[in-house]
Amino acid sequence: MEITGSPAPINLYISTSIGIEDITKEEIKEVLKDREIKVNPFEFRGKIFVRDVNLKEIPHIFFKLRTTERIGILTGVFECDLNKLKNYVFSLNIKDFYKKNLSIAVRCKKRNNKIKLSKQEISAEIGKWLIRRIRDEFDFTPSVNLEEPDFILRCDISERYITFWLDLTGNSAMHIRKYRVFEHPAPIKGNIAFALIKKMGIKENKIFVDPMTGGGTIPIECAMWAKNISPYHLRNDFLIFKLKPFEDLKKEDFMKTGEREKNLKIFGSDINLEFLKGAKENAKRAGVEDYVKFINLDAKDLSKAFKKIDYIAFNPPYGLRMRIGEEEKGIMKKFFEEAEKVLSDKGKIGIITARMDLVRKHRRDFRIIWRRKIFHGGVRIFGFILRK
Ligand SMILES: C[S@@+](CC[C@H](N)C(=O)[O-])C[C@H]1O[C@@H](n2cnc3c(N)ncnc32)[C@H](O)[C@@H]1O
Repeated sequence: MEITGSPAPINLYISTSIGIEDITKEEIKEVLKDREIKVNPFEFRGKIFVRDVNLKEIPHIFFKLRTTERIGILTGVFECDLNKLKNYVFSLNIKDFYKKNLSIAVRCKKRNNKIKLSKQEISAEIGKWLIRRIRDEFDFTPSVNLEEPDFILRCDISERYITFWLDLTGNSAMHIRKYRVFEHPAPIKGNIAFALIKKMGIKENKIFVDPMTGGGTIPIECAMWAKNISPYHLRNDFLIFKLKPFEDLKKEDFMKTGEREKNLKIFGSDINLEFLKGAKENAKRAGVEDYVKFINLDAKDLSKAFKKIDYIAFNPPYGLRMRIGEEEKGIMKKFFEEAEKVLSDKGKIGIITARMDLVRKHRRDFRIIWRRKIFHGGVRIFGFILRK
């Protein structure tokens, strides 16, 4: 695929967590109809290419997508050849996006063993060319700011391709929603929590419970979706509004996703009172405290608190970051016994866990209807959806 130059047409380059690319693709298709979308086209995983996006559509899609990590504008792709890099940077249509006074950074990712230069060396070299390119166009020398740049040019080098994209997100990826005033010791990423919720296909007028809710990520993500609140309403640091085409747009105009609100009863429960208190604070910060009810409950007593549940979604305490004691080991067995009593006939159970073996061992008569290997940061975990 040969794509060079910008801005017409704009092609987006979107990153997501490895393993949930198809769910992100579904989300994109719901917003941008009839577009060519390719998953992992340039040998990097967790990447999605979207062709022919109108500039005006970008802020809408940016604030609506819930499973993404970064959104960027793809400015160029070519067969891997380091000699082409310099000419490419000098041919960049920098005036379309850059504004005078923005500080810059170049970030390089490299998956190519034949190239001996390090990604830092390549970033530094591209950075020098970018400064010259900006100086030629604007008669101004931009400062380099590696901590908090205003303008980030990304360069991903695989065996076959060099990909250039302008990062609209910034230093912190989009799964960081900033509602976590309380930090649970083993939280799930917001975008992965939402990917599970989306895949479960939640219908209205139903009961949704996370019985091991920790800091509340899963019910909070579900409630923000049901209330059509953008998950980025607390983020003021995205780079999109610093770029020239978007300078007149106001973030406030994109905080509601424009869909109808959905009616759901959402609960989060945990055995640990301190975590519950934190989860309540997080829900308040996320703007959904009236919509999620938190209760102190041992998941082994689920049927004592609930007669019927339509959706159960959780990640149990078997991760690498939490203590694995004898007590925790019994939870999955007992959980499935309880789920058998309370899950409605068409109900679903969504689980994110590093311990695939425990789900398989204890699931009783529940059928696994979806299973997926997902990377949570660098850690391999599994997503499951089960039903009766
Ligand atoms: C991996 S954490 C969940 C993290 C959460 N999804 C988040 O993003 O913050 C697992 C949680 O299960 C809770 N837990 C452990 N045993 C439990 C039990 N028997 N009943 C209810 N909750 C339990 C722990 O207190 C912990 O908060």
